[in-house]
Amino acid sequence: MTPEQVKLVQDSFAKVAPIADTAANLFYDRLFAIAPEVRSLFPEDLTEQKKKLMQMLATAVTNLHQVEKIIPAVQALGKRHAGYGVTAKHYEPVGAALLWTLEQGLGAEFTPPVKEAWTATYTTVAGVMTAA
Ligand code: HEM
Repeated sequence: MTPEQVKLVQDSFAKVAPIADTAANLFYDRLFAIAPEVRSLFPEDLTEQKKKLMQMLATAVTNLHQVEKIIPAVQALGKRHAGYGVTAKHYEPVGAALLWTLEQGLGAEFTPPVKEAWTATYTTVAGVMTAA
């Protein structure tokens, strides 16, 4: 990822952070619409899950410019996910739901370079998680 892409991701995340609850609702609704088979991996009540996801995203985005610092945490997250029954193929619909959510939240500000920067971010994080 280039420094410009890191900045695009951080600036655009700052714009969706104030609507984190709405974004989390949009994300899970979209995910379960495009990949209903993953619903059973999650608990019935998603309240805690939504908070944790947004916190983790915030941590990742804040530290993108020093990605080596978060790699051990991302590897540990990936190992825990294997324990939740998550497989490599599940990462694709999750990435698609994330990009779709950002598009809803950012509207016209979800420009092609912003989309590319987020795709690079997700691909990097998901790659580290699945490799672990
Ligand atoms: C970049 C990718 C992802 C991030 C940042 C992420 C983040 C998180 C976080 C922070 C947690 C809280 C628990 C923990 O820290 O271990 C969690 C739990 C979980 N995630 Fe993910 N996740 C990602 C990808 C996925 C994918 C691809 C799936 C598959 C559908 C998934 C399904 C789950 C499930 C089932 C739980 C546990 C729910 C529970 O039993 O409470 N995640 N995730």
